[in-house]
Parts: sequence; C-alpha cells; structure tokens
Amino acid sequence: MARSGKATVIGAGFYGSTTAQRMAEYDIFDEVVLTDIRDGWSEGLALDLNSSRPVEGFETRVIGKTTTADGQGYEVIEDSEVVVVTAGVPRKPGMSRMDLLGVNAGIVRGVAENIARYAPNAVIIVVSNPLDEMTTLTQIASGFPHHRVMGQAGVLDTARFTYFVADKLGLPVGAVKTLTLGSHGDTMVPVASACTVNINGQVKLLAEVLPQADIDALVTRVRGGGAEVVALLKTGSAYYAPSAAAARMARAVATDSGEVVPVCAWLTGQYGISDVYLGVEATLGKAGVKEIVERQISDSELTQLQEAGAAVKSKAADVANM
Ligand code: LAC
Repeated sequence: MARSGKATVIGAGFYGSTTAQRMAEYDIFDEVVLTDIRDGWSEGLALDLNSSRPVEGFETRVIGKTTTADGQGYEVIEDSEVVVVTAGVPRKPGMSRMDLLGVNAGIVRGVAENIARYAPNAVIIVVSNPLDEMTTLTQIASGFPHHRVMGQAGVLDTARFTYFVADKLGLPVGAVKTLTLGSHGDTMVPVASACTVNINGQVKLLAEVLPQADIDALVTRVRGGGAEVVALLKTGSAYYAPSAAAARMARAVATDSGEVVPVCAWLTGQYGISDVYLGVEATLGKAGVKEIVERQISDSELTQLQEAGAAVKSKAADVANM
C-alpha cells in the first residue's frame, strides 16, 4: 500500500510512544508526529524510532516535537488526518479511572483546543482517562462534529475479554470472538451473549462451553482488566494492548476501512440511548464514526448499557465546565 498523510499522537508516555511506534511500523503514513510537553522527550523518541527504520524496514518518518500548554510547537500537527490524544496522567494502584477526572480534564481541554486550532479537519481518537468523560470534553472543547471525535476503549476491553477466554479454554486467541460495550469504567458491559469460540471447526456460544459462574468470573476480570495491570506494575498503567487498540483505530480511519469496531461514540437513539458518548460498535473511516451498528443483545445487557449511558450522562454537565 502506498504511504500517505500524517497522523499525530499527543503525549509521549508509554501509551503514546508505543502507539506512535505501531502506527509508524504499519508503514502507511508519510509521517507520524509525536508531541510531549517534556523538553526534548519526543524529539529523543523520534530519533530513536527513526533509527529503528532500517532494521524494521519502514519508511514512515517519525517527527518529535516539544509543545507547551499554550500551543507552542503545535504547528507540527498541521494537516494531520487523525490525532490520538494520550495526554494526561495514568492511575496508580487503588485508583479508579474516575479519580483522574480533575487533573486530566485541564490537560485534555487544552490539547483539544490546540488540535482545533492547528488540525481543524482531523479525526480525534481520545484514550485519556476517564475515557468516556475525556471524549465528551474533547468534543466540547474542540467544537468538532461528534462523528470526528471518538474514544478508544472497546477494542482494548474486547481484546482483554478475548484473551481471558482463550487462556481459560486453552484456545488460540484467533478462535475466540468477544464483545465489550458500555463505558470504560465501572459500567463496562462485556457482552457474554455475543461471545463465540471455535473448537475444532465448530463454532459455539460461550454459554455452551463454560458454566455461568465461569463466565461471570471472566466478565468481572474484564471489567478490572486495566486495574489488574496497574496493580502489578505499581507505577503507570497498561500500554501494549491499549496502544495496539488505538493504532488499529487510527489505521481504520486513515485507510477508510469501514471496519466495525467497538468504539466510544456519540449516541443518537441507538439502544434507546441519546446524547451521550458510550461504547458501541461502529464503522470507522475517513469521516471518523461513519455509522453505529446495533445488534441484538440480551435484556439484562441492554439494561446495563442503558445504565452505563445514564452514568456517563450524569457527569456530562460537570465535564462541560472543566
Ligand atoms: C486501561 C487503561 C489504559 O484500561 O484505561 O489499561
């Protein structure tokens, strides 16, 4: 595939830098820009990543740029077609994602305003936590149409669900299909009714191969999947699976792939939920979220999804003023 266009990652922590690495290694962009407020940090990472190109065999140029909160350096993101926002602080053991709301809101608002100024036509993918609230805030602060602002969570949470099921059953991850909707927090909705496993060529529902108690334990593990990593690392949060998810979404947007992925998107009546950002399935392309895809889920999953929508909505007024 020919290389084209520019993609940007804001924030060069582990999440941001591994996202930039994955996007550069796809070798589909002319340039991947990586910015950070730490003086010289993203320039150093860019130098290092560019030096890996002869070994890994990709030609995408990585550009690192130190930026300031008031927008200095942001001219480097001009004409980006997709911008991944990783700016903000990660949680520490024992913290919920919501505990980051106050500190990350200030950072993310400033970033969104600078993106609107320098890359007004971009599609924004937010990964900063608390995810659903930071996606809401980014849309408000950027003033972009809702379809050009989305959040990354469902690809990650679904990947964790798939891995946990595969691990439990001793199957390849490729033999397992799962789905996670709802918020990227306490009201996450792992959709067990949509999960299938392929055992020796026979596709079965999860409920046909595992007792309900085991499925419930897997669902609980998925909801706490991020916290499980935080507790082990003791400092910082997960980034390999999160960056894989964010980079895949950026690629789907840049290549106009039209693939269906779980994504934090603006709802306008789907599943009986409106005017809130929440994890649902949608097709992605150059316009951002092209279309939300509704599927049949169980009554209890639908109730949980509607409760998740209500929970995110209850924070929206606070977020708007942050
Ligand atoms: C996680 C963070 C990145 O789930 O939200 O690991």
